[in-house]
Order: sequence, then structure tokens, then C-alpha cells
Amino acid sequence: MEEEGSSAPWWQTAVVYQIYPRSFADANGDGVGDLAGITSQLDHLVWLGVDALWLSPFYRSPMKDFGYDVADYCDVDPIFGNLEDFDALLEAAHARGLKLMIDWVPAHSSSEHPWFVDARASRQSDRRNWYVWRDAGPGGELPNNWKCAFSDAPAWTFDAGSGQYYLHSFLAEQPDLNWEEPKVEAAMHEVLRFWLERGVDGFRADVISNIGKDPALASVEEARAKVPPFVFRNEPVTHEYLRRIRALLDTWPGDRAMVGEIPVFDSKEVATFYGAGDELHMAFNFPPLYAPFEAPAWRERIEVTTGALDPRDAWPTWVLSNHDVPRHRTRYGNEARARAAAVLLLTLRGTPFLYMGEELGLEDALVPAACKVDPGGRDGCRAPLPWSRAQGHGWGGTPWLPWPPDAAERSVEAQRDDPGSMLHLYRRLLAARRASPALRLGDFAFLEAPEGLLCWRRDFSGDCRFVVINFEDRELEWPQDDRHEVEVASDGRGESQVYDSRVGPHQALILKPTRPARA
Ligand code: NOJ
Repeated sequence: MEEEGSSAPWWQTAVVYQIYPRSFADANGDGVGDLAGITSQLDHLVWLGVDALWLSPFYRSPMKDFGYDVADYCDVDPIFGNLEDFDALLEAAHARGLKLMIDWVPAHSSSEHPWFVDARASRQSDRRNWYVWRDAGPGGELPNNWKCAFSDAPAWTFDAGSGQYYLHSFLAEQPDLNWEEPKVEAAMHEVLRFWLERGVDGFRADVISNIGKDPALASVEEARAKVPPFVFRNEPVTHEYLRRIRALLDTWPGDRAMVGEIPVFDSKEVATFYGAGDELHMAFNFPPLYAPFEAPAWRERIEVTTGALDPRDAWPTWVLSNHDVPRHRTRYGNEARARAAAVLLLTLRGTPFLYMGEELGLEDALVPAACKVDPGGRDGCRAPLPWSRAQGHGWGGTPWLPWPPDAAERSVEAQRDDPGSMLHLYRRLLAARRASPALRLGDFAFLEAPEGLLCWRRDFSGDCRFVVINFEDRELEWPQDDRHEVEVASDGRGESQVYDSRVGPHQALILKPTRPARA
């Protein structure tokens, strides 16, 4: 996957496809997706044209946070299969040239993890210090004013058995691990080694900015008391931990990479997690994900991101959807915008992360409040993927969540049969990206454009592409002297024809110069 004339590692040229295992494909017909289901659909992903997969957690878990509460970091939850199924998936992925990244959840475990069971058993337990414990105040008060995610509840729960509070940035069933304890760091490094030895190509590190804590655990201003995203924004010690994680990864052959989740809404701070090229390989940068579909907002987020990352030579990531936020098809309100957004996502400079189902243009499922199962209310974007038109959509049993809207028409089967579908648009975009060093690795520069349009240029040793995105619901003009061919159009209109300077409502285009473009 290395680009000719460049020594770029695979994770810079790859398009990564995120799989939420519960909802991707169900091989055993119990209504919950599984590892064998993923293996059975790898050929489809190769047909689509992605380069790498990231699997959300599939480890043993009581599933209070659907796998982000890990009870055994080195085993597969029976609902997803077993370690043999994992090895088979990895082997099948590699046989098809796909890289495999897995989620690593280092900031907290499940309260049912034997480490925590041991830690809470007594204050004298060998593992007591593996978690963060504090005494109650003289009147029984909480140790500080921090609030956990998902609710406004305190980030502390009192453990009556041992008489102290423990810290949890998320649910009470997800106690924070104490990275100040060297044995915790060593244990989490062991987990990395376990999976590296099995052959994974990298990790997505869950809320990695949470591993370093303010040693004083001091109360903060009330408006910023929510742990994620505010309290552990950027503790200096986190960077020490990250450098040691990077050193471990660097001792393995084959460019093993880590992308860290940094739920901090300031791209400059996100950039610090790359260190001097000795911390994360990549960091998720969420401000663009929260941008409305408007030209000025996107221009600002792109400029702020590149302004923060470029000076550090840090490689950007781009994400429009994941398992934590409403899908961008739902947020942006219509299919035309979602199609234009796909062109944007796949032509920026950096590694794009696709969330399974966005290539089908899936909207969030409407999940009645009474049927919601996620403590964070994120059920809608986690609806199962419809594989076929027929009832059941390729799933054996009733899936664990309701179907997204128009599941039959949006199914993989229906869209593979329709060259005008969203699925085929993603496939054309991925093919165009794969064929163009400029799109994969090239320099990026905004070009002058009328209000409502964003236009940029990508260049890599003689290869060049222009990208035009119309954020407006009306036709706009972007006159060009040079002759350009429309390589990809978000609505398919005009593809393979000479560009005529007109950009349809919410249309987005990749243009390929038909003679060498002027610098
Ligand atoms: C971020 C994950 O993406 C989210 O799904 C999870 O609830 C929290 N981290 C806690 O692990």
C-alpha cells in the first residue's frame, strides 16, 4: 500500500472502516452480530475498496456499555465467538490485504474485571491501588465535584464494603484504572503485546486522554466538572504514558499503529497528543465531526486542523460518523448532502475513518425511549446493517436493535444492484482515491471560490486533483480555464465528461486535469 516515491506507512494511505460488531453481520442467527459474521462479509468490504478495519470491542464484558466495559482484555465475549474466530478473521482479512485494528480500552475496566473485584475486596488488597480510591469528606461528602458521562451523576461511587469512593469517568460499572500504579501500566502493555503477537496491525485507543489524572483530583469550576470531555483534558503525565506506549509499538515489525480517541474539542490540544512524532500515530479530532454542513464552518474546521497539525508534521484523521453520535446522513438532513460529504471526507488530506453503514446512506433508527438499551442513548446510530432486501435482511434472528429506515431499499443487496446508489458512489470514491497519489498523500490547498462552494487542490509529484463541494441547495458556478474531466460526481451526473463550470445543488465533484495542471 506504499505510494511510489514516498515512504508513507500504510495507516497514512489507508481508508479505515469501523465495524461495531454487534450490528454488522450475524453468522449464528442470535440477533447479535459476531466475528464469524464479519469474516463472512470481508469479500464485500474488499469489493467496496476499504484498506483497513477497526473493530469496536468484542472482549468479555457484562455489556453495560456494550463492550467498553471490559471484564477480560484477552478473550472474546461468547456472544461474538471465541479466540479461534478472531484468529480466523485476522487471517482472512490479511489474506485479502486488509489491515485489522482493534479497540483497546485502557482508561477503565468493567467493575466485574477480576482486577476490580480484587481491588474492592479490601483496602489491603494487592490491587487496591489499581483503581482510584478516596475517602469521603468528614460529613460523608464526595471527594470532589466531578460528574461522569451519560448523566449528571457524580463520577464517584461509594463502595460500602471497603468504605471508600472510587472514580468512574463513565458508568459506575466502569471504574477508572489508576495509571499512576506502575503495575496497571505494565498490565495494559501486556494486553497490547497479547494482540500484537496474534498479529493485529494496530489499535484504536478509547478515551486515551483519560489515562493521566490531575494528582490532586481537585474540584473544578462547575461548568467544566464533567470528566469527559473537560476534566482530564491534557495532563502532562499522559504524554509520558503515550511515549512508552509508542516505544512498545515501535519494537514490533510492520508499522503497528495507534489512533487515539481524544474527546477534547480544541484541535490545538488534540495535536499535542502526537508529541514530537513519538506519541500517537493519529488522533481523532472531533471539531469537524460537529461542524454543520456549511461552507464557512467546514473551511474554518479544516484550516484550524491543518494549522494545528501541520507544524508538528502530524497526520490528520477525518470522521463524519461513529457509534457515539447520530449518523451524518441524519444530521445533515438529506441524501444529497450526505453524498457531497462523502466526497469531502475522502478527498481531504489525512486518513478517513468510515463508520459501517454510511456507505449505504443509513439514517439512525428511530428507537422509542422505552426500547433504548444504551446508557448514553446512542442506539439510533448502532442499528443493524441490512444485507438483503428480504425480511430479516440477512440476519437469522430478530436483531438486538430495530432496523434503520428503508432497510430493504438501503440494503447492501439492493444498492449493489443499483449503479446510482450511495454504495456505488463510495466504491467509485475509494477507487479514485486508490488510483491517485494526490488524493492519498498530496499537498492540500484551498482555491478561491464563490460563497457556498469549497474548492481545493491536491498535488503529489505531478498527479493533481481538484475538488469542488457545493454546500448550497442551488446550482453554483466555479469557472475553470483548464480542461478538466469529472472523475467522480456525488450524484453521478457528468462523470467522465468535460467539466462545464457548473456545480449542481449539493453536488460535489472530483476533477482530473486532462492536461498537466498549472501550478
Ligand atoms: C468512547 C467510546 O467510543 C464510547 O462508546 C464509550 O461509551 C466510552 N468511550 C467509554 O469507554
